[in-house]
Amino acid sequence: MDRDHLRELVDTALHAVELGTKRRDSGPAPAVEPAELARRVRAVLAEPDGVLPATGHGEIEALASLTELFATGSVDPAHPLAAAHLHCPPLPVAVAADLVAGLLNQSLDSWDQGPAAIAIEREVIRALAELAGLDPDRAGGVITTGGTESNLMGLLLACEAGHRTILCSEHAHFSIQRAAALLGLGPDAVIAIRAGTDTGHRMDTRALAAALTGIEPGTATVVATAGTTGIGSIDPLPEMAALAAERRAWLHVDAAYGGGALFSDRLAPLLAGLDRADSIALDLHKIGWQPVPAGVFLAADERRFAPLALNAGYLNPVDDEAAGYDSLLGRSLRTTRRADAFKIAVTLQAVGRAGLGDRLDRCHDLARYAAGVISVHPRLRLAAQPVLTTVVLQYAAAADPDRINAALRRRLLREGRAVVGRTELGGAVWLKLTLLNPDATEQDIDALVTAVLAAGDAEVTVGVPPGP
Ligand SMILES: Cc1ncc(COP(=O)(O)O)c(C=O)c1O
Repeated sequence: MDRDHLRELVDTALHAVELGTKRRDSGPAPAVEPAELARRVRAVLAEPDGVLPATGHGEIEALASLTELFATGSVDPAHPLAAAHLHCPPLPVAVAADLVAGLLNQSLDSWDQGPAAIAIEREVIRALAELAGLDPDRAGGVITTGGTESNLMGLLLACEAGHRTILCSEHAHFSIQRAAALLGLGPDAVIAIRAGTDTGHRMDTRALAAALTGIEPGTATVVATAGTTGIGSIDPLPEMAALAAERRAWLHVDAAYGGGALFSDRLAPLLAGLDRADSIALDLHKIGWQPVPAGVFLAADERRFAPLALNAGYLNPVDDEAAGYDSLLGRSLRTTRRADAFKIAVTLQAVGRAGLGDRLDRCHDLARYAAGVISVHPRLRLAAQPVLTTVVLQYAAAADPDRINAALRRRLLREGRAVVGRTELGGAVWLKLTLLNPDATEQDIDALVTAVLAAGDAEVTVGVPPGP
């Protein structure tokens, strides 16, 4: 690879990102209707001679024009008014490391495609298993594309060990249901346990205990969510671990969101009991400030991966492995697999546990500040005190609150002013701020709240029939 040429391309891309970001205006999202955005993309990418022209337009030209188009039409997760999803602004050092992973283009499925990458992933997994409280000499794991894949891995390994009925909170992520369907466990395999407001949106362990009594010991998987997508609640891990142990159930903890609390001295106690899990999903592209993807799947006992063991003659023949040529083919459902562990390793070394923990504490402070502002505002309602970094609120409309809240969120998006999330609680539409930007300020939170109020007011006016 010609380094000067690559440098020229990277400089071109960075310059075009800057131009595109400026063209997007000052907001976090492109102020454009979806159909118009699609038309603009088509005009640059597909016209006049198609996405795949007979002859190319040249590297600099294609990279510059498409990067500018891409940036102009992107939501900026680093903008303080982008607060909708578990979608973090990535750390520059992690972005640079991600570029290296692309440049070196290693793959984890055989030693002869990624010798150092394999060793790096093993070290990262070991460190994260230890952080989660697992025995690092006994645990195993793999880097995944995210919580969806990690949940599938957990349920797959549990299923292979004979645990075929799944009990999870009514607020569990939909990937649990999907994984059960993919595993062919049938529509009744997932039992949703109630997690009402009276339990702080945490799983009701009495309902769990009652459901477990009807299932043959040793055949259930209990899924705890540590950081629900909708409201950020953390299921009662110690009680659930005790019930799982009593009924010989597999305990899978979906800590895709909340697992990042392990980095913070202040918030790590919320995850007490995680060390008793059989398997854990953890996402560093949520709390961890990594570019997507940076999922982590951990199993307390690495022998649980046995059902995935595979020796492919062209990748990791038995004699190569016996001679010490390691591979991670038997850890994943994928074959070719990118060295995503590298950016995680660089980040952990660069900022340490405290660097990530301080960032999370800052986001937690911002969530508490937002909750304080919302709870005293006469035209807003707060669903619950934030546990992590999620704040759920409603614009208190006198009439038709579902329509107004849904429409005000789309208005903010259409105008490119703010990106706020949406969730549903008790059948009603709520708005959600998922605060993962440690560089945001209290003034930014005020601006976000003001934007929600203004958009709500505008929607109320829209709903009023014109006077005589
Ligand atoms: C609790 C939880 N689990 C799993 C997922 C899925 O993660 P991913 O989108 O990385 O696959 C999410 C996504 O928001 C989540 O909140």
